[in-house]
Amino acid sequence: MKFRRAQSIYITIQNEEICIQNFLKNKIISVTLQEFSLILAMEHWVDVEHLAKVLNGKITEEDIINIIYKLIVCGVILTEETQEEDVHYQENWDWGLKAGAYHFALKNTQFLTPNSEGMREFADQIAQKTVEDPSPVLFSLNKNKYDKVYAYTVPDFDKGIFKTIKRRRTIRHFDVERPVSQVDLTTCLYAGLGILKFKSIRPMGEMPFKMTPSGGGRNPFDAYVQCRNISGLPNGLYHYSAVEHSLGLVNDQNSPTPAAILAEQLWIDEAALVVFLVANFDRTMWKYAHPVGYKAIMIEAGHIAQNIILAANELGFYGSPTAAVTSSRFEEMMQEKNMNKSCVYAIALGYALENAEELV
Ligand SMILES: Cc1cc2nc3c(=O)[nH]c(=O)nc-3n(C[C@H](O)[C@H](O)[C@H](O)COP(=O)(O)O)c2cc1C
Repeated sequence: MKFRRAQSIYITIQNEEICIQNFLKNKIISVTLQEFSLILAMEHWVDVEHLAKVLNGKITEEDIINIIYKLIVCGVILTEETQEEDVHYQENWDWGLKAGAYHFALKNTQFLTPNSEGMREFADQIAQKTVEDPSPVLFSLNKNKYDKVYAYTVPDFDKGIFKTIKRRRTIRHFDVERPVSQVDLTTCLYAGLGILKFKSIRPMGEMPFKMTPSGGGRNPFDAYVQCRNISGLPNGLYHYSAVEHSLGLVNDQNSPTPAAILAEQLWIDEAALVVFLVANFDRTMWKYAHPVGYKAIMIEAGHIAQNIILAANELGFYGSPTAAVTSSRFEEMMQEKNMNKSCVYAIALGYALENAEELV
């Protein structure tokens, strides 16, 4: 049998130990120098005999097999049977280790859930830190910093678009009795993702333009909507086609609940709908091989979400964002296995309870 090293690994030194993490598998192990030298020798397919030669007989074949077994379990070393995901990564992920490690290692994040022991500990830590090492100031001043400071009267934001912008608030108390209409739902999606026109850009051809800016015009986002209380529309997960302005039913199952994907934040289950913004990395990667493309996509998610939220505000309801997405769970629901397609941001939308505390 032959073995090789996985591509999706990075190596760090922690407490004088060599640690190797396979970020696709989310597994980390510490290795000895001897094990490390074996890993170094496994760039290409090799067998145990070859490895014994590389180590000049300093280690028996039986010990090599034991080490290899341990490394296979952690995904550091692959066999032909276990290499599928790694091959996929090699062939499809152009942004290299830096962006790959960041993206894939975070996909399965287990967030602290409200009311959990971990969350209580976190709250205690913050309380203690506030006393011992207070937070930095959350704004900055020009006064006493710059010689010339020009001060202005704060604008009146009580008309038109400004009034809508000013109304934006993250609420966590939705009215479960009040559905959102299909027109209002799709209006919000249109504000964030709707394609207004195509323009021919040489040499690439027709490119879509929308109301939110897009790095290189690559339009990497799709929206999937988990509809839970939309008048006249069966509950389920829908895909929004921005070019058709249509919703396609992906599945009509009611599980997992949005909260199960979004760090058990149960208030999200009270929203009429949740928009999941799903990045198609391929669209951006095709043009930009540099991992800054990844950053551009994350920024674009914010632009799209903001337009969706503001459209909801204009129509009388609210949108509340969350980055606490366990993408791997969402991807199961999406029923599409594609390493280069991932949910990075979500917005819960619905009418506020009359006395929602955030609005006071
Ligand atoms: C990127 C991002 C992620 C957020 N994630 C969460 C979240 O997981 N849960 C939550 O309750 N609020 C989340 N929020 C909302 C913030 O808590 C909220 O914006 C902040 O408290 C300020 O309140 P405001 O939006 O009403 O101005 C998020 C906001 C942003 C911009």
